[in-house]
Amino acid sequence: MNILIIGSGGREHALAWKMAQSHQSGDIYIAPGNPGTAQFGINVPIEVNDFISLKALSIEKNIELVVVGPEEPLVNGIFDFFNEDPATASINVIGPSAKAAQLEGSKAFSKHFMHRHQIPTAAYAEFTIENYEEGLAYISKHALPIVLKADGLAAGKGVIIALTHQEALTSFKEMLQDKQFGKASSKVVIEQFLEGIEVSVFALTDGHHYQIIGHAKDYKRIGEGDTGLNTGGMGCVSPVPFMDAVFMQKVEATIIAPTIKGIQEEGLIYKGFVFFGLMNCGGEPYVIEYNCRLGDPETEVILPRLQTDLVSLLAATDNGTLEDVNIQYNDTAFATVMAVSGGYPGSYQKNIPITGIELAAALPQIHVFQAGTGFQENSIVTKGGRVLAVTSSGNNLKTAVMNAQNALSNIQFDGMYFRKDIGFEFS
Ligand code: AMP
Ligand code: GLY
Repeated sequence: MNILIIGSGGREHALAWKMAQSHQSGDIYIAPGNPGTAQFGINVPIEVNDFISLKALSIEKNIELVVVGPEEPLVNGIFDFFNEDPATASINVIGPSAKAAQLEGSKAFSKHFMHRHQIPTAAYAEFTIENYEEGLAYISKHALPIVLKADGLAAGKGVIIALTHQEALTSFKEMLQDKQFGKASSKVVIEQFLEGIEVSVFALTDGHHYQIIGHAKDYKRIGEGDTGLNTGGMGCVSPVPFMDAVFMQKVEATIIAPTIKGIQEEGLIYKGFVFFGLMNCGGEPYVIEYNCRLGDPETEVILPRLQTDLVSLLAATDNGTLEDVNIQYNDTAFATVMAVSGGYPGSYQKNIPITGIELAAALPQIHVFQAGTGFQENSIVTKGGRVLAVTSSGNNLKTAVMNAQNALSNIQFDGMYFRKDIGFEFS
């Protein structure tokens, strides 16, 4: 079957790589893609929110399966846009309806949902400009630290962890009165701070059944020892040593199963990935957030571990057989190390030539997934903050991380930086 992958990051490169291995895949198109995805399919210069062009492409190329990488088109209703038109209704679009995508698109929606289904999460309250004064009073009495979240999508910048009441009050004012994130901060969720270790679990659902397809620990801070500013993710490890059968059973029983049951009971149309952002608080899992997509760079570590055919797995969401799929993982240790542009997550230069990708990619057990890259006169240059995700396996996590770092020593671009301590706490 012909496939369209929407997006242009390392996640989409990993998806294209994995799907190209399937006997079921025909032509693979990636919109807009990057030089990495071009190794496995045809890049088409259509932006992820240009639904009209994506639909026209799907009809013209006889696409049967669409995999939506990023959250924005999902929250903007790409599923519904395809589903409501008879010309594209039969295409299997992997991603929830706009309504169900509110699980990621609105913090308040997801908190209400978790509350209705008794899914463990941090205690919370929500405020708008209407009850602004009440919010100020609520913050003043709240235990420290205080977590403030803009309700809507804010490009990963909408969460503030305030260490003082003054800081929380200032952020609250900036979000609600000064409209810091526009419409996204017209509502603010204030949450209890959860102390623990953050981990991600990924499931695929057809809205009734689910399969767990992987888990990972993502290293979000720019600096070694988990210091400095937050990023989109500097690396990952999988499997995570403490996510053993006992912990995963708790995750399944108290979080995943009730979430899918809740989706079904509420009649939400959801055929796609569910990303459970969790906090392990002394062995008890709590939901920090839902995302309605795969993570980046988590995808770059979970797909190399997944041994099940991904195209068949995705097709199973459309023909009622998801329940019967037998998911197989490689239990070897895997690690992903992200190479970023100098200055990231602040400002950084683009269009810097990159050398050595092919050398690194030719090493055993190594995958070089391209995230923020582009073509310039047939050579590969930097185009984003997160540039390359290098994944390796190894006999243990330490070896996996070392292999990824050794591979990176073949790659060069001016200003290149990567954390040398991914997985440090497990070595
Ligand atoms: P979110 O966009 O909801 O994932 O939040 C961004 C980051 O803020 C998360 O990845 C956590 O590191 C942190 N965070 C969010 N909510 C909480 C919470 N209730 N307690 C502690 N940390 C949190
Ligand atoms: N790595 C975190 C995310 O994809 O949201």
